[in-house]
Amino acid sequence: MTELTTRWLGLDLRSPLVVGASPLTDDLEALKACVGAGAGAVVMHSLFEEQLVAEQMAAHHFIDSRINMDAEARSFFPESDVFEMGSGSYLKRLDLLQDALDVPVIASLNGISSGGWTQHARELEDAGAAAIELNLYDLAMDPSDTAATLEQRQLEVVRSVVEQVTIPVSVKLSSFYSALPAFVAGVEAAGARGLVLFNRFYQPDMDLDELELSREVVLSSNAELPLRLHGMAMLFNRTGLEMAASGGVHSGDDATKAILSGATVVQLVSALLVEGPSALGRITGELNQRLSTMGYRNLAEARGALSLDNAPNAGAWERLNYARLLHGWQSVQ
Ligand SMILES: Cc1cc2nc3c(=O)[nH]c(=O)nc-3n(C[C@H](O)[C@H](O)[C@H](O)COP(=O)(O)O)c2cc1C
Repeated sequence: MTELTTRWLGLDLRSPLVVGASPLTDDLEALKACVGAGAGAVVMHSLFEEQLVAEQMAAHHFIDSRINMDAEARSFFPESDVFEMGSGSYLKRLDLLQDALDVPVIASLNGISSGGWTQHARELEDAGAAAIELNLYDLAMDPSDTAATLEQRQLEVVRSVVEQVTIPVSVKLSSFYSALPAFVAGVEAAGARGLVLFNRFYQPDMDLDELELSREVVLSSNAELPLRLHGMAMLFNRTGLEMAASGGVHSGDDATKAILSGATVVQLVSALLVEGPSALGRITGELNQRLSTMGYRNLAEARGALSLDNAPNAGAWERLNYARLLHGWQSVQ
C-alpha cells in the first residue's frame, strides 16, 4: 500500500483526491459520501465578482434608482438564476459544510479586477474556510487590452485577495498564457501558495436548428488531461507553488499521471457528476494499486518523477519532439 496522505497549502490531507469546485457544494449527502469514500478536501463552487459587486450596489439602492438603465448597463448584472447563492448564503453553506465534513473546506472566489469585492475573502476566512481558491477566468475580448495589461490586472487581483487573508490562497489558471512560467512567477510573487491547473474554457456550441448559441456545460473526458500534465511537468521544481491538477481525471491511472507530472493534489468534478461519489472510492483504490505496483511508498516519491526535470526521456515534453512526431507520423490504416 502507498501512503496517500499529503500536505496541500499547509493543510494535512488524508488523500490527494479532492472534490473540485462544482454544484456538489449544494449536495451535502453527496459530499459526505465523497468524504466517506476518501476525499482529502472539498472545494466549494465559486462566489463571483459580478455577484458580489451587484450585491454591494443593491445595498446602496443603486439598482432601484436605475431601474430604467439601458440594456447594455443591465447586462453587466448577473442573471439571478445563474447566481442563486448570495454571499450570505455562501457563508452559511461554508459553515454547514465545515460542521458536517471532517476534511478541510476550501472556498472559491472568481474574479478578474481588483476592487472592493476582494474584501469578501476576509469573510470567508472568518467563516472558517481552510484556504481560498481564486479563479481567474478571463476572456480577452477588447483589442486595446494587451496580454501585459491583462496579466498585470490579474496579478493585482491575486495581490488584493492575498492581502485580505492569513489563510493560504491558490490560483486557478487558464492554460492560455503565452509565457506560463513567467506568469506563474508573478502569481508566486503576489503571495499565492498554490496553482490549480487548469480552468476549462467553456465554449458555447451552436444550435443550427434554432440558429442560436447553446450553453450547456459539456463534462470532461480524460482527453483533457495531457494539457494539464504538460503544464505541471514544465513547472515542477521551477516554481515554489504547489500544484493541483484539475481537468480530465477519471481514473486512478489519470491521477497517477497527474502526480508523476508534479501534482500535489488531484481534483475531481466530471467523474463525480457522471458516476456519483462512488467514483472517489474507485479512483482511490486504483491510484493506490498503481502506485504500490510501481513501488512508491508515498506520494512524495512519485511526485514529479516524469516531469521535465526528472523524466528519462524528458525531451518528449519539448518542442523538438513535436517536429519528430510530425515527421514520423504514419497512418494506422
Ligand atoms: C457544472 C460545473 C460547475 C462548475 N463550477 C465551478 C465553479 O463554480 N468554480 C470553479 O472554479 N470551477 C467550476 N467548475 C470547473 C471544475 O472545478 C473543474 O475545473 C472542471 O470541471 C475540470 O475538472 P473535471 O475534468 O474533473 O470536470 C465547474 C464545473 C462544472 C462541470
